[in-house]
Order: sequence, then structure tokens, then C-alpha cells
Amino acid sequence: MNYDSILSERVKELRPSGIRRFFDILEEMKDAISLGVGEPDFVTPWHIRDAGIYSLEKGFTKYTSNAGMAGLRRDIASYLERRFDLKYDFATQMIVTVGGSEAIDMTMRALLNPGDEVIIPVPSFVCYAPLAQMTGAKAVLAETRVEDEFKLTPELLKSCLTPKTKLVVVPFPNNPTGGIMEKADYEALAEVLRGTGVMLLSDEIYAELTYGQHHFSPANLPELYDRTVVVNGFSKSHAMTGWRMGYVCGPAPIIKQMLKLHQFGIMSAPTTSQYAAIEAMQNGDRDIEKMRDEYDGRRRYLVEGLRRIGLPCHEPRGAFYVFPDIRGTGLSSDEFCERFLMEEKVAVISGAAFGPGGEGFVRCCYATSMKDIAEALTRLDNFLTNLKKKQGRGEA
Ligand SMILES: Cc1ncc(COP(=O)(O)O)c(C=O)c1O
Repeated sequence: MNYDSILSERVKELRPSGIRRFFDILEEMKDAISLGVGEPDFVTPWHIRDAGIYSLEKGFTKYTSNAGMAGLRRDIASYLERRFDLKYDFATQMIVTVGGSEAIDMTMRALLNPGDEVIIPVPSFVCYAPLAQMTGAKAVLAETRVEDEFKLTPELLKSCLTPKTKLVVVPFPNNPTGGIMEKADYEALAEVLRGTGVMLLSDEIYAELTYGQHHFSPANLPELYDRTVVVNGFSKSHAMTGWRMGYVCGPAPIIKQMLKLHQFGIMSAPTTSQYAAIEAMQNGDRDIEKMRDEYDGRRRYLVEGLRRIGLPCHEPRGAFYVFPDIRGTGLSSDEFCERFLMEEKVAVISGAAFGPGGEGFVRCCYATSMKDIAEALTRLDNFLTNLKKKQGRGEA
């Protein structure tokens, strides 16, 4: 059978994520430390797990309504209003999804036609461009810069806009840079977009993880509310990656079309997880704050440690990543990661895996214990000292 000739051309053209290969090597290594994986090291809080278990005991094992249980959607609506001042009608403006991932995929598929252009700020999470390409749309990569704290500036947006632009992804707080956008930043973007029909996909999966200031959504601006689709979920805020719980909110006519995709492709998000999510929405605010405080302590420690060792790094104000600048080492991001892993058994992720703007940087995730972060810093110091010696001898 010639499978190559029967596979979808679009699927074949996608490049696999550059992140996974590393974890395969890591798995075989003893005493290795990973600052690689982008997920909370916390276990889902017990009362949330318990709610899931209880629903199983009660035998709640059937499909739910396609958009998700009405009670859960009501709770999400009140959570969004309580925590982010975002108002959505649970009945017409919201779908409970299989993680934020499904919500991103559906937004792309509901909005894009072949030939449309999607502006994607990079470096950023790896799924946006491939999912856009699967619709036949063209991904236009907008390279954000450390000098701008990795924000999407109005100048950068303007330089990427064309009459074909349909959608702009706004991935903030950002994975991998930790960059955030504030009210004034979105006001400036709103001015650029005024009079166009361009939509925004705001990926707010790290909304609860901002440090020193409150998260601001483009949908908080009346001018952008009608043209923004908000994606969020439970994975990072409530340490629930494995439950696969997310949601999408936006203008009712768009959500109505998305519901068809969700109905035909998924049916309904996992029922046990929906029961757990209700508990998270009703009684989970304190867990969020506890975990955020813990992340914040690690963030400061890691940033300080990296700077002390001699790696410049901008202050990440959101998510759980630090994105140090490794250009001074003379290595490419890929070389740096490969050698650091082989020589010191510490995994960090090459910035290049997150798009062209990421070359010269590496992503260090601090959703891991202080003990591991401290040990990783010691090993990094060692690695850089040895590298300098080797370079001095002309060996590296
Ligand atoms: C920026 C960003 N968006 C979305 C996701 C997907 O999250 P979920 O587990 O909700 O599908 C991730 C996961 O790492 C992410 O980093």
C-alpha cells in the first residue's frame, strides 16, 4: 500500500513539534532534571479530584449536553465575571471543550477559509500555525522581540496586516516567553484594527498566572469584545492537564457554528471531568492563589539565579516560564539544549521550537520543585564555565 499517496497533503506538510524528541532522550537518563515539560508539577487539589470520583460513584457516566453541562457553564460564566470582569451568556456564548487545545482548533476551523491569513506572534505555543494550515489558511508569523518584552506591538501588527488577514492570535500570558499584554497594549492594537473585520483569538490559558498585575483580556475592551474569541481552561490554573477541560467564549453567531464542529467531532467533553470542573469553579479560587504564590517564589529565584550566572533574561510576568538569552554563549538554541542535556543532564527547551523569534533563547519551565531548580542552576553554572574553558582552548 502506498500510504504516502493516500494521506492528506495538508497533514503531510505539517512539521512535528520539536519538543517531544527531548523527552524521549530524557526518559532514558538517570539523575536527569527537567525544566522542560510545560505543565504544573502540582497534583489536582483533592476536593476537585474527589468531586470527579464522587460523580463516578453516583454513576454519572453518560454523555452531557453537547455544549457541556448547563450548571458548569453557569459556573464558568460567574468565574469569568468574578475573576476577570468578562461577561458571557452561558447559553449562547460558551462551549466546554476538550482542553484549550480543542477550543483553539475549533476557533480556527469555524473562522478560516482557504487563502485567509492568520497573524501568529512568535515565539509562541506550537499548535497555532499547524492548526491554521489544516484549514488551508496561511500562517503569517510576527516575530516579537525581547526589547518589547515579547509583546505584540501595534507596529508589528501593522506590518503583518494585509487585506487577506482574517484572524490574529494573541497568546498572552505567553508560552514560552512569559510575556504579557496590558490594557494600553490592547488599546493600541484596537486602534490598528479599527475599521477592519479582523478577529482575535485570545489564548488565555495562563490568565491566572500573572505576577504583580492582574490579567487583562482584549475582550475587556468594549471595542474588541465583539471581535474576540476567548480560549481558556483548567489545565494550568487548577493543575488539571490530564482531565482535558477547557472552554471557548465569544460572539453567539460564532459559538453557534463551533457547536456543530464540537457536536460532530467530540459529542461532549468528558463527563467525570465536567463534575470535577464544577468543584474547581465553585471552590477552587484559593488553590489558584496558593499555586500562583508558589510559582512566583520559584520565578524570582530562577530569574535571579540565571542573571547571577551570567545569562541575561527579561522579567517574565506571566505563565511559568523563564526565557533566558543564550546568544552570548556562541551556541545556537538547539546546540545549547543538546549539549546541556548530554553534559549536565538538564533538559530545557530550544527557543527555536517556538518559532523563528525564539532562536537565541531557551525555555526553562519552573513548574518543578525548588530543589530541582537549585540543582539545575548549579549544573548550568558548571556547563557555562566548562564551555568557556573549552572555547578558550578552541575545543568548542
Ligand atoms: C499557550 C497554551 N495554550 C494552550 C495549551 C493547551 O492546553 P490544554 O491542556 O488546555 O489543551 C497550552 C498547553 O501547554 C499552552 O501552553
